[in-house]
Amino acid sequence: MPAFSAYAPGKSILFGEHAAVYARPALAIPVTQVSAHAIASPRIGATQTLLSAPDIDLEEELDRLPDDSPLALAVRLTLNAAGIARPPAMHLRITSTIPRAAGLGSSAAVSIALIRAVAGFLGLPLNAARISELAYAVEKLQHGNPSGVDNTVIAFARPIYFIKGQPFQPLHVAEPFTLLIADSGIQSSTALVVGDVRSAWQQDPERFEALFDAIADLTHAARQIIEQGNPDRLGPLMDENHALLQKMTVSSPELDRLVSIARQAGALGAKLSGGGRGGNLIALIPAERAATIASALIQAGAHRCLMTTVEVTHD
Ligand code: MEV
Repeated sequence: MPAFSAYAPGKSILFGEHAAVYARPALAIPVTQVSAHAIASPRIGATQTLLSAPDIDLEEELDRLPDDSPLALAVRLTLNAAGIARPPAMHLRITSTIPRAAGLGSSAAVSIALIRAVAGFLGLPLNAARISELAYAVEKLQHGNPSGVDNTVIAFARPIYFIKGQPFQPLHVAEPFTLLIADSGIQSSTALVVGDVRSAWQQDPERFEALFDAIADLTHAARQIIEQGNPDRLGPLMDENHALLQKMTVSSPELDRLVSIARQAGALGAKLSGGGRGGNLIALIPAERAATIASALIQAGAHRCLMTTVEVTHD
């Protein structure tokens, strides 16, 4: 069997994080500037499958990995889907350029690259929906109560309008727009922040339901703008979404500072993206001001800036 190599991009949430867990809509895009890679190759002369993930110093045989290992679960679920009880010995090597615990979908992308590599190596045809479903099971192990937006946008690798528990809808982009994605350099566990929001919601359901509804209104308005054109109008909506996330206590002083610096340097709007309390922010920018805004953010302490353009979709 020849080696099989697979890839999955990162992701960014444009609108609706956290509210997405409570069945409100979210808009998300793939971010191809960062990615996870997996290679499945034959392990000649061995009987066991070996997993190597040098980024996390892991090198272990599949059978020795515990049930709560996300990498092992991704492989086991794929083997189950293939109906293969005793797979040929493989070497599975996983690497990723997606910063971890940073709101860019690292865990879902790693699972999806791995699922694709194993399925490809074994000749199992898995479509994007099935791959997303398997990755969602791994996300649940890691994140407790995820909405499923990360595995969906990464598996389908296109801009999406997403509501938990429903098939996603393609997001039609009428005019391209440019984003800067800036890393606060602070790692933050999405599971923890999602758990904190849940406790706060349980304590004051009325207030949190109202916040989720207000975010849903912004997400609907943003979808209309993206699908009709004139995307500069997204800027103020991003600012409002950030303010609502602050009220939910999922921002942080560092994210707030970087968001205001982006705006002062010429961004049309900016907000945290993903779980929050750290990780990345996104800023809508005039493409010609990218270098100025990125350098203001780096000077202010951002660890890395990526520029990405959301291109027009043609379907
Ligand atoms: C994480 O990328 C987005 C959150 O809304 C969690 C989720 O939707 O599962 C914070």
